Amino acid sequence: MFTKRVVAIVMAILVLSGFNTINKPQKEDPSSIAKRRKAERSNNPQIEKKIDELLSKMTLEEKIGQMTQINNSEIVTNAQWGNGADLSIEIKVDTARLGKMLRKYHVGSFLNGIAVSPETWYKFYKDLQEYNMKVSRLKIPIIYGVDHMHGPNYVEGATIFPHAINTAATYNNKFPEEMARVTAIETADLGHQWLFAPVFDLSRTPLWGRFYETLGESPYVAATMGSIFVKTAQNETAVAPYKIGATAKHFLAYSDPKYGWDRGPVDVSDQALYEFHVPPFKAAIEAGVKTVMINSGEINGVPVHASYRILTQLLRDELKFKGVAVTDWEDIIRLYRNHKVAQNEKEATYKAIMAGVDVAMTPYTTDFCDYLRALVQEGKISKERIDLSVSRILRLKLELGLFENPYPRNDRFKKIGSPEHKAKALEAARESIVLMKNENALPLNSGKKIVVAGPVANLKRPLAGGWTLRWIPAEEEIYPKDMLTVFTALQKEFTGSNVSIANNADEIKSKAAGADALVLAVGEMPYAEGFGSIHDINLPQDQIDLVKAAQATGKPVILVIISGRPRVIASVYKDCKAVLFAGLPGFEGAQAIAEIISGKVNPSAKLSFNYPYAVNRLIPHNHKISEVTLAHEIENPIALMPFGTGLSYTTFEYSNLQLSDSVLSNANAEIKASVTVKNSGSREGKEAVLWFIQDEVASITRPVRDLKYYEKQTLKPGESKTFSFTIKPSQHLSFPNEKGEPLLEDGYFTVTVGNLKTRFKLKTSANIN
Ligand code: BGC
Repeated sequence: MFTKRVVAIVMAILVLSGFNTINKPQKEDPSSIAKRRKAERSNNPQIEKKIDELLSKMTLEEKIGQMTQINNSEIVTNAQWGNGADLSIEIKVDTARLGKMLRKYHVGSFLNGIAVSPETWYKFYKDLQEYNMKVSRLKIPIIYGVDHMHGPNYVEGATIFPHAINTAATYNNKFPEEMARVTAIETADLGHQWLFAPVFDLSRTPLWGRFYETLGESPYVAATMGSIFVKTAQNETAVAPYKIGATAKHFLAYSDPKYGWDRGPVDVSDQALYEFHVPPFKAAIEAGVKTVMINSGEINGVPVHASYRILTQLLRDELKFKGVAVTDWEDIIRLYRNHKVAQNEKEATYKAIMAGVDVAMTPYTTDFCDYLRALVQEGKISKERIDLSVSRILRLKLELGLFENPYPRNDRFKKIGSPEHKAKALEAARESIVLMKNENALPLNSGKKIVVAGPVANLKRPLAGGWTLRWIPAEEEIYPKDMLTVFTALQKEFTGSNVSIANNADEIKSKAAGADALVLAVGEMPYAEGFGSIHDINLPQDQIDLVKAAQATGKPVILVIISGRPRVIASVYKDCKAVLFAGLPGFEGAQAIAEIISGKVNPSAKLSFNYPYAVNRLIPHNHKISEVTLAHEIENPIALMPFGTGLSYTTFEYSNLQLSDSVLSNANAEIKASVTVKNSGSREGKEAVLWFIQDEVASITRPVRDLKYYEKQTLKPGESKTFSFTIKPSQHLSFPNEKGEPLLEDGYFTVTVGNLKTRFKLKTSANIN
């Protein structure tokens, strides 16, 4: 009895103190919402005046329409847009269906597509916008969203870059910049002004089918490269008079489902949220990203689309995001259909809006509009709450210049897929392929006879993966005629007659006799999102068997892995003479692979994740110390190849690691670390120098490795260069507690670069020796 009473009192105190309310939709009162809206005003008076003017004239229905985003399938006559092998299909706006969307619901945004020609996109978007401008009472333009994930992947004939997992491996900031620029230039004229990229999620488990969309495991790399992409895409002047609005996706912790399943529940401590998942999004917001897309899953039991804590307190109040928050696909509906946190769609709509959603990617129906209107009319959602979202959306449209330039143009199409752009994608591919192992097997010189085999050796689609021409491309015929496969690229590189293909183990055996080397291209066929979630990250057994058959011939086996994530290859790794992790290198990828095999290109990529050794040891490089204290780790390393591995055809020697001081005596002091890197081999090469810092003792356990800085430079044979890195306590030594507050604790820190280590001390008080 007594115990029960104590429990009841404790519960009452917790509820009163707000403990349990943080994740529930909180009803902000209209006056604080109005204040929030005021605080978000930009410093452009014309834009703000126009927003106020429009808001004062718009009906409730018109406002709700602005908060609605509909899939293109609902407004075109050709429902085949999305499938089939025909890129030349005609896309026609269905004016009857569009008419209803616009006249009755005033829908303000549409999305999606698959690759069709620039002319087809142009005509479709022109018809759509013209119709809209004709019927829109207040002449508010439509904004159109497209997922151009690795270059303009939904435009026929456009330039296709490697996927983000490869971009990260370049450790060269020029590539996210070039990819963003080319994407903007090749798509802005088509009306694709809302770019659903880049992904700021971190790769945490290769079971997850979107591993390849990420910039790897390091929050620092994701933050750095992702924000470069955002800044470039949004500020590219070559697309004038248009502008692009980028999207940081998927806020927050989407990539960390507990069991690896896409959109599965994420159980993560608040401290880990702030340590790993928040920093990339924080960087995106600081870079000025205009929109954020929300994680479809749940964090610690609360679906993010219903989380006031994540969408308002964290995103708006702490991270100071002022742009547009869009749901992911059908995610308001998912609140009741999947997550079961709402009785029906109306309640789901209430929860999502009160949590902080601005735009609903509904995407097939306008029911959202009816529910939201009813909620406002019943007084459950205030007019101020609607105005808050609508002003963000109108600001986005005004800042992108859509009111002045609502229509696409077709006089600059020659830039799409231009040789100059393709050369950039090729260069990115060359620097993104990791040479994981090389026992003097590579490069192969030009006279060598090569047998090529493996299920992805003579196919185009595995090279570019999902989100290429189609969401999940299944037809080989839709790829450019002149795109090379690994086999055809090697034929070209090694002058044809020396390169043959073996289609199965028997052919490998019979052809191996006359060969100098066997190139085995293994990997995955394209997938996207949930269709890429897998139960087993072993390389499929038939592929392992093929590699073993090749190894049994006694000829050197060069393994080329073309896949969106690491697949476990431990059983064949030892007997491969060389291993290349090619990832998803894009349309120019096969040429890059062939040039690395021939030695024309000296590889310079490094892994952006821990390549796992075993299927049940999926541990990122920035794990905690206690992951590895058991004795058996000595025999079974956590990674087959650790984060940062990447060989070259030359050798680099690190020496002379120096610190400008060994003590930092206040939080504003700085230490300059420097190291000499010498190209000690015989050919020119590029070296990415990765700087790690480990906090030796802290009040919260720290990651064993934490990448803080990287820099890549070219070195001629015999040349030495000094690489340096300025260590700043607030940026490089502090870490967040569970409230996201930075802790800066005195003590020793280890700096690691290459094979060298040194330490220094932070001593801001007298309490440390
Ligand atoms: C994906 C998003 C994408 C959206 C629109 C969703 O299923 O999760 O990344 O932007 O679809 O295509």
